[in-house]
Amino acid sequence: MSRKPIIAGNWKMNLLRSEAKELFEGIKSFVKDYTAPQLPTVVIAPTFTSLCEVSSVKCDCGCGGNKIYVAAQNCHWENSGAYTGEISVAMAKDAGCDYIIIGHSERRQYFSETDEMINKKAKAILAGGLIPIICCGETLGQREAGMTDEHIASQIRAALSGISSEDVAKSVIAYEPIWAIGTGKTCDSAEANRVIKMIRSVVEEVAGSNAADSIRILYGGSVKPSTIEEQMAQSDIDGALVGGASLKADSFNEIIANTMKVAV
Ligand code: PGA
Repeated sequence: MSRKPIIAGNWKMNLLRSEAKELFEGIKSFVKDYTAPQLPTVVIAPTFTSLCEVSSVKCDCGCGGNKIYVAAQNCHWENSGAYTGEISVAMAKDAGCDYIIIGHSERRQYFSETDEMINKKAKAILAGGLIPIICCGETLGQREAGMTDEHIASQIRAALSGISSEDVAKSVIAYEPIWAIGTGKTCDSAEANRVIKMIRSVVEEVAGSNAADSIRILYGGSVKPSTIEEQMAQSDIDGALVGGASLKADSFNEIIANTMKVAV
């Protein structure tokens, strides 16, 4: 089964609107030289305040479609109401998003997001016709205690609970070991592939083999232009969620270019 790779940039809480637009233009001017089938699926997740800014320029490159998709970095599971500071799936869609990242370890750690909340968000995103990028990952302590697989399997079972096989098949998972995020220390590619295979087997158990074959599972954690080829050469790694290296057009474009050398 061949799965179209995804290279996603998570800009986190960085860049003012003008800076976001400039960086987005820098990525757009690189991808315009390729046809959509040549490219991996490119997804950019700016801050909420820059969503409209980048969405407004995403489609005028003459490609006849979206070469760059836009993602929100979070959402609420309710459609509307008294939830100060939150945005709904419909609002993200209205701002041009096709994807929404949920369950990033920074949200779990600093904003106390639970597996149950992430499951509600995943359901709301799919019901709204968008695609969730569901993050999971272990701490260094959990890894050293030999708990990696157990912890990740339980995060995935909880996130996908009650979601139909068809919807699971469309979803995206990002395996991001917390100790590798923003540290410059990437997880060994073979080990990342092993964990991702384990995640695929959990998906098979909860949603069947079609969903397990179709779901795209990314690696995230200090991905750089110099690491992506080896990561993409692994059997089960379907792309990358990139933080730091997505904040410069040169490095992000090089990650896309190096991905195309291996698999698309
Ligand atoms: P990083 O971040 O590439 O800077 O490690 C990845 C992420 O948090 O998604």
